[in-house]
Formats: sequence, C-alpha cells, structure tokens
Amino acid sequence: MVQDYKLFIGGEFKASSTGETFEDLNPATLESLATIQVAGPEDVDRAVEAAEAGFRLWNEVPAAKRAEVLFRAARILQERKEELAVLMTEEMGKVLPETRGDVQEAIDITNYAAGEGRRMLGETTTSELKEKFCMTVLRPIGVVGLITPWNFPIAIPAWKIMPALVAGNAIVFKPASDTPLLAFKLIEVLSEAGLPPGVINLVTGPGGTVGKAVVRHPHIKAISFTGSLDTGKWIMEECSKTMKRVSLELGGKNPVIVMDDADLELALEGVLWGAFGTTGQRCTATSRLILHEKIKDEFIKRLLAKAKALRIGEGLLPETDIGPVINKAQLEKIEKYVKIGKEEGATLLYGGNRIDLGLPGYFFEPTIFTDVRPDMRIAQEEIFGPVLGVFTVSDLEEAITLANSTRYGLSSAIYTENIGNAFRAIEKIEAGITYVNAPTIGAEVHLPFGGVKGTGNGFREAGTEAVKEFSEVKAVYIDYSGRLQKAQIDSAE
Ligand code: UN1
Repeated sequence: MVQDYKLFIGGEFKASSTGETFEDLNPATLESLATIQVAGPEDVDRAVEAAEAGFRLWNEVPAAKRAEVLFRAARILQERKEELAVLMTEEMGKVLPETRGDVQEAIDITNYAAGEGRRMLGETTTSELKEKFCMTVLRPIGVVGLITPWNFPIAIPAWKIMPALVAGNAIVFKPASDTPLLAFKLIEVLSEAGLPPGVINLVTGPGGTVGKAVVRHPHIKAISFTGSLDTGKWIMEECSKTMKRVSLELGGKNPVIVMDDADLELALEGVLWGAFGTTGQRCTATSRLILHEKIKDEFIKRLLAKAKALRIGEGLLPETDIGPVINKAQLEKIEKYVKIGKEEGATLLYGGNRIDLGLPGYFFEPTIFTDVRPDMRIAQEEIFGPVLGVFTVSDLEEAITLANSTRYGLSSAIYTENIGNAFRAIEKIEAGITYVNAPTIGAEVHLPFGGVKGTGNGFREAGTEAVKEFSEVKAVYIDYSGRLQKAQIDSAE
C-alpha cells in the first residue's frame, strides 16, 4: 500500500494547506512508493514558527547533551542501515552497495557532529590592555533552512542537519521532491533518538514554491543549499534581501588527469567508477578525462572495453553496475547534451542512447565522447549523467590549464607515479578537492567538502568546517581592572 506522508511541523504530522499531493516514484519501475504533500506558504510559516519555538528550547540544551541525541540517532541509523539502503535504491535508483555507502556517510557525519558537542572550540587570546581577558565563543544562528538534492538522499541532508543541530540551531528542511521518503526516515530516526518537537520541521513540495518560501522567509537566518548553479545564484540574490547567510554547493565538471607514467589499470578503474558510478549523478562525478597523448590510444581502447562490460539495470539486482537516471527531465537533459556533443563535432565513441530493459524506468547507456574541445558545451556544462568527455594533452601544464578551464571547481584527480606531478597538480588545480591516484568521488566526512569558482561561495561542509557553517562567532572581552580602559587609546601609551 502506498503510504501518505504529511508535513512534519512542531513534532506532528500535519496536512498541508494546499490539499495537493505528488507521487514519489521508483525511477526503475515508475511505481509509486509514497504520496507526498505539497506545502503552501502558510505551511512554511507554520514550520518556521514551530522552529522558532524549537530553537528557544534547543538553544538552552548544553551542546554535549544535544550531542547525545545525535549519538543515539547514529545508532538507530546503524540498526536500520539495510532497510534504509533498500528503500533508497527503490526511491533513487542507485545500486545497493552505493545506497549502503550513502547511509554509512550519514552515520559517519552524525557521529562526527556528535563529537563536536564536546568540542565546539573557540579561541582564547591576549588583550592589548592589562587585566582584560579575550576569547571567542560559538553561538547558534537560529532557524536555518536546509534545501537538499536527490542524489545523496540521506548523506547530504545529514551533512547539513547534524552539524546544524549540534551547534544549537532549529531547522526547516526542504528535501528534493524525488527523494522525500528518505527525508521522512531521517526525521523518524531523529524523533526516536529524542530530538524535541519543533527542532526539525519538514516541508515537501517543489523548489519553485516551497523552496522559494523557505529562502524568502524573513525569520530564517541562514540557507544551506546543494543543487544547481542557476538555483544557487538565485538563492544568493534572494538571501541578500533578508541578509541571510547562505552556503552553496553547486556541482562540478570534475577532471581526471592521467599522465603517461600512471598505473593505467588503476586509473581505468578510477575513471570508470568516477564517471559512471551513481549513473554519473554526483556533484563529484568525473565528467572530463584528460589523457596524456602517449597513453591515449591504449587507455581509450581499454576504457571502451570496460564501459561495454558495465551492466545497467535495477539497483536492487546484485549483477547491476549502473542503476537508472532519476527522472524523465534528467533523462531528457542527458539526451539533449548527447545531441549537442554530436553537433559540436565531438566523436561519440560509445553509448548515447536510452536503453529498453522492458521496464518503464529511465535507463541510459554509459556514454563516452572523444575529440572533445574545451570550448564545447559538453566540456563546460554540468550534465549530471553517465557522460564522459575525453581530451588529449601533451604535458602536465596543458593538462592543468585544461582542468582549470571551466567555471566549476569541486573535485579533481591526477593519476601519476611521479611525486612532482602529483604535487604540481595539488598546487595548481583550481578545486576544493584533489585526489592523487584515486577517483574524483570518495569524500570522507571528517574533511571539508566544497569547491571554488562557480561551485560555491566559499563555504565548506563537514569536517572541521561543519559546525562553523552553522555557527556565529562571538568575541568576548572581560575587563577585570575595575576601571575604564580604552582600546587603541590607552594601549598606545
Ligand atoms: C555529491 O556528489 O553530491 O565524494 C556528494 C563523494 C561522496 C559525496 C558526494 N562522498 O562522491
């Protein structure tokens, strides 16, 4: 039976004011998994009011106690890992080993953020005046709005939710409409772990209305968004009107450089996993392969053989390597870019077509273009599908220039056995993440995640930045001299 999910506001499930619903579809079979409600602007108002009440309460709870809720949540996630992974494969399509990884990433960040409850470190420093003490403390921001994508249905929400919670904020959470079920599961887990009512509130529905209402709400103090560059730009503009803090993670066009001295088999495996894992639907997916001319022919030949061997199908089947594309719009976008690539004069080496598996879902071949030039649209724009463009260069300098030739800068990788080449790449590639002898995907939660240029606006998520993303820094001065001391004036004497 298809379950009906209401909005979650103030610790209760509440019917939306619009009365409208949408179906949450399995992208492989197009069966409905759940009926989800479309929130209206009044519902967002109610969610924000509930979050404000939740904030007053939660802010008073010591951080180490807040962390205990998170530690419990991590344990519940661990116990329910398999069930959540299966549900995620049904809802989002990626293969089971990957959805297990997604849940594991949520468990990891939950434990990591919980650990912050006993750190939340500020600084103590000196004063320029006598008998004066100076330090910084972290304070919560207030009510924060979190808007998350469908490609990591529990990991990315957890990246945002867990640090925001340990830092003492309350949340209005708007998940992607393709993966609301996993968002509800996360809410369930947090409630069971003892999170008080109102501290997290869930509103579902289209970004164009519900996301917009969250972004525009005057009582929401910060927005954290992962999604497309265009939406991110719009959010940033909107947030300036209400002076909200905004942290953005907006995708990539991630390059892998394979030098002539690389371990080619290792590089092949990494490229295949980076380009076609998650059906290419990662911000960190490998979409540009930059080959040294000396190994180009050999590498392409072997890459083609391996790509042909990939099995596309339902993510729940153990023999499947690549699951479906998330939805029709995304499939059409990929088809559009294949057409553009051909028209631009790139050579379609392999793939490029939808696959008929006798299922109504959205299956697409792994696709490789060669003879790609940096000025082509397929070399510049994020496709978010299993499409890899191959370039040839004659040395590392050319490779790095090419790697840096897009407006994005999230992930990057170099395969080389030469330590000098590796360090030059680390130094010169414009990206938030550089891997050496490893694919562009595989970020771990205790390192900061985010990118440069069009990928973001300077914030990083997770790692040492996790709590800072959701905290204000307060400077504190304690003068115990018992007299008026004037900074810059008395200290100059
Ligand atoms: C994303 O692609 O949106 O490194 C996030 C990775 C994952 C996170 C990816 N741990 O690919």
